[in-house]
Amino acid sequence: MVAHTSSTLGVPETNGVPQHIAIIMDGNGRWAKQRFLPRVAGHKRGLEAVRATVKACVQRGVEYLTLFAFSSENWRRPQDEVKFLMQLFISALEQEIEKLHSNGVRFRAVGDLSRFEPRIVRLVEEAEARTAGNDGLLLTVAANYGGRWDMLQAVARMLKERPELAAGFAETDLNPYFCMSYAPEPDLFVRTGGEQRISNFLLWQLAYSELYFTDTLWPDFDAAALDRAIASYQERERRFGRTSEQVQSGRRVARVSAG
Ligand code: IPE
Ligand code: IPE
Ligand code: MG
Repeated sequence: MVAHTSSTLGVPETNGVPQHIAIIMDGNGRWAKQRFLPRVAGHKRGLEAVRATVKACVQRGVEYLTLFAFSSENWRRPQDEVKFLMQLFISALEQEIEKLHSNGVRFRAVGDLSRFEPRIVRLVEEAEARTAGNDGLLLTVAANYGGRWDMLQAVARMLKERPELAAGFAETDLNPYFCMSYAPEPDLFVRTGGEQRISNFLLWQLAYSELYFTDTLWPDFDAAALDRAIASYQERERRFGRTSEQVQSGRRVARVSAG
């Protein structure tokens, strides 16, 4: 797969479905609390929202879906909750991959997997290998991921392979070393659960993504909620530093030359 250059070089149309959607799935704990259930019940229901979202993305022709499942800071949670999340990750890997595979989905995991138990690492590797040949939706799950970690590991790997760049390097030198160099930068970022922050998700790659925040709690997120996010995206004008007039006239030129 080719490494994509910065998506900020061109101005993609926003009238279609976004090519890459990245989601912070937040609000599981509050969903459970509202129902007087333990927090982990919210995580369990959250998996159903994952299923619905993946299915909706496949149906709508989204090419890349990236889900933030566990941040590098989530280890700070109570041990029991972390343990439950790991168990849930294991059972999802065991139970969902065949279905994803039969729907043509490619599965990838990004993040520092070295901190996970060997069983999880093995299941992730098996899932990636099993689905590697598919050409449908590319589903990336970010686990023990942090945007700052990603930047550090990218610089470290780059300098190890190309020590001559220590004297200076460009974005295009660094881009191939990010965990998600196989995907274009997200067009649409969604955060559920009402908070309006990035929480150390894809810091580098979100530079020019359209941001969408919703109060919907993750377990309540579904195809209709996804459509609302996409509809919001479709109303945006992405300018990447240019003026609106430049963007509009660029579109006219493109339309004329396309015939
Ligand atoms: C997101 O939901 C799931 C993870 C971070 C793993 P939360 O568990 O953060 O839910 P709230 O924010 O406490 O409601
Ligand atoms: C972000 O949610 C991480 C994931 C959804 C995996 P958090 O609930 O951990 O974020 P903060 O702590 O409220 O910023
Ligand atoms: Mg949260």
